Amino acid sequence: MSTRGNLLYAQSGGVTAVINASAGAVIEAARRQRRRIGTVFAARNGILGALREELYDLGGEDLAQIRALAHTPGGVFGSCRWKLPALEADRAPYERLIEVFRAHDIRWFLYNGGGDSADTALKLSQIGAELGYPLTCVAVPKTIDNDLPVTDCSPGFGSAAKYTAVSVLEASLDVASMAETSTKVFVYEAMGRHAGWLAASAGLAARKPGDAPHVILMPEVAFDETRFLARVEATVEKIGWCTVVVSEGVRDGEGRFLAESSTRDAFGHAQLGGAAPKLAALITDRLGYKHHWAVSDYLQRSARHVASATDLAQAQAVGRAAVDYALAGRNAVMPAIKRVSASPYRWEIVPAPLEQIANREKMMPASFISKDGFGITAAARRYLAPLIEGEAASKWRDGLPLVAQLKLKRARRKLPAWKG
Ligand code: F6P
Repeated sequence: MSTRGNLLYAQSGGVTAVINASAGAVIEAARRQRRRIGTVFAARNGILGALREELYDLGGEDLAQIRALAHTPGGVFGSCRWKLPALEADRAPYERLIEVFRAHDIRWFLYNGGGDSADTALKLSQIGAELGYPLTCVAVPKTIDNDLPVTDCSPGFGSAAKYTAVSVLEASLDVASMAETSTKVFVYEAMGRHAGWLAASAGLAARKPGDAPHVILMPEVAFDETRFLARVEATVEKIGWCTVVVSEGVRDGEGRFLAESSTRDAFGHAQLGGAAPKLAALITDRLGYKHHWAVSDYLQRSARHVASATDLAQAQAVGRAAVDYALAGRNAVMPAIKRVSASPYRWEIVPAPLEQIANREKMMPASFISKDGFGITAAARRYLAPLIEGEAASKWRDGLPLVAQLKLKRARRKLPAWKG
């Protein structure tokens, strides 16, 4: 007889406009498996909730609200950046997790996150066998950074990319209108830490040569101040204004981030943000042009109102597939998106081993970056364009988006508090 038990879902890392859509898909798919799955739990604030035995019992949630997660940005159960130590270095958190799983009869664990979270999912996938508890662990992909390997793209990216392309297109019309007597340069900053995918997606805003953005700075290309200023100046001289898109992860020739704070997260990543104001100040200082800049920051991660329908469909598909894989006992895998056909764009979900995903970052390939290093190629366009296709309508009331209202009932604790 196949295993019967409970399923735990948790969210991890930076959230996206559609991570809750994956959550909704997981919950609905799990509810359809009544013969196998008793209770669907969600952990509060990711793996920390599992360690602290802070679990939500989702049994009493209304189906309409679960479905409303598809148009609710943020992470409804709370997310975290928290690194599990290596099993050899410290067994205590693993033993605690197994204790919590055993206490709540959790047989399947689904962890919805990016590369760092895949590391946690991989470590967890190994503890069942190690500590003698039957557990199937599946990672559910998401990241606006699009830096997960193996999968063609990462849920969350398509919507952030669409926000980026739309914002750059619209703001560029604004700059162009006032350029003769006011602002001549607009600098837009995109997230993306070490990879230039999001900044590159701004390139979709240009429908013909010469359209904005005129300069895209990606982390894959070392920043060269002299060449950059020359390009901005040449653009302003030619058309009267210039739109620059900069990735937060751009570094100079010595590998130093243009914008780095001293704050680090649990994985040792520096908090980034602020490359746009730095570049804008440099432009005014050296070239004398009036500037405006924007750091879209969490706006690009949460802009559900301009989400991509393709992205939404993929976020839901990986959620459903994760439940299927878990019940099939496929431990240590992640549902990955495979591009089956480029034109017309078609995709399917396939299982990918977590060893090939955890702690690896996928950068923009050289073939996607124009020879001068300031733009994207036709191949990059072909890759990016379908990911922002389609408008995934939000629901609205009183002029504002209508978001899910979950009861978030806490499951009764069965264990003493965690002392870790
Ligand atoms: O999740 C990825 C990401 O959105 C990066 O692009 C960004 O640098 C980072 O998260 C910000 O993380 P936090 O919200 O923890 O500061």
